[in-house]
Amino acid sequence: MENEQAKFIVIEGLDGTGKTTQIKRLAAYLKQQGRAVFTDAEPTSAPTGKLLRQILSGEIKSDEWATAALFFADRVRHNTDENNGIKKHLANGETVLLDRYYFSTFAYQGANTDANWTMDLHYGCPQITRPDLVLFLTMSPEKCLARIRAGRSENDIEIYENPEALTKVSDRFDTVFSLVKEKENVVYIDADGTPDEVFARISAAVDTLWK
Ligand code: TYD
Repeated sequence: MENEQAKFIVIEGLDGTGKTTQIKRLAAYLKQQGRAVFTDAEPTSAPTGKLLRQILSGEIKSDEWATAALFFADRVRHNTDENNGIKKHLANGETVLLDRYYFSTFAYQGANTDANWTMDLHYGCPQITRPDLVLFLTMSPEKCLARIRAGRSENDIEIYENPEALTKVSDRFDTVFSLVKEKENVVYIDADGTPDEVFARISAAVDTLWK
């Protein structure tokens, strides 16, 4: 595969929409077509990402503004890391699949800070790469929560994984994607269905990238 065919695909959605399952399937699907694929997630596994995980679990307290800034810092490094960064992988001709990106900061932290500030921060930074495609997995917050609870123990629930927070974030995601529709290539994917049904919707959207 030639370098210019490497694409940057982001998958977004509420906790419980099945992003992780679908991203694995997408990686396998693209590899089967002979494409080089690199899969990653945010928050990252770098020290900034680890700190964020401690904040998300409630182990470390942080105000939402500082959390937003930390997500931003984690993301800048994720783009620029010389060995394992998004830019490096794209330059190597690998299609990058990313589980969450700046839209999550706009929705989750934007809900409790100033959404415009979170957007200005990211769109104003030349080191933050724009994705070629954003797959937005949609599902009702109630169904998301039921799926989260089915898969985890009570003390393994993160700070945003409650009905009030998820409903708020769900509304924010809708607002965010209507605000960015001019500058981003966003495809809404109905995530309510069997893994096969949802993946069929995803592959149809992804196939258009190489046409
Ligand atoms: P994720 O790893 O996708 O969820 P899970 O714990 O189900 O595997 O994301 C972890 C949490 O991080 C999720 O609740 C959303 C939150 N998050 C933000 O609040 N802002 C962000 O910018 C990102 C990337 C994630």
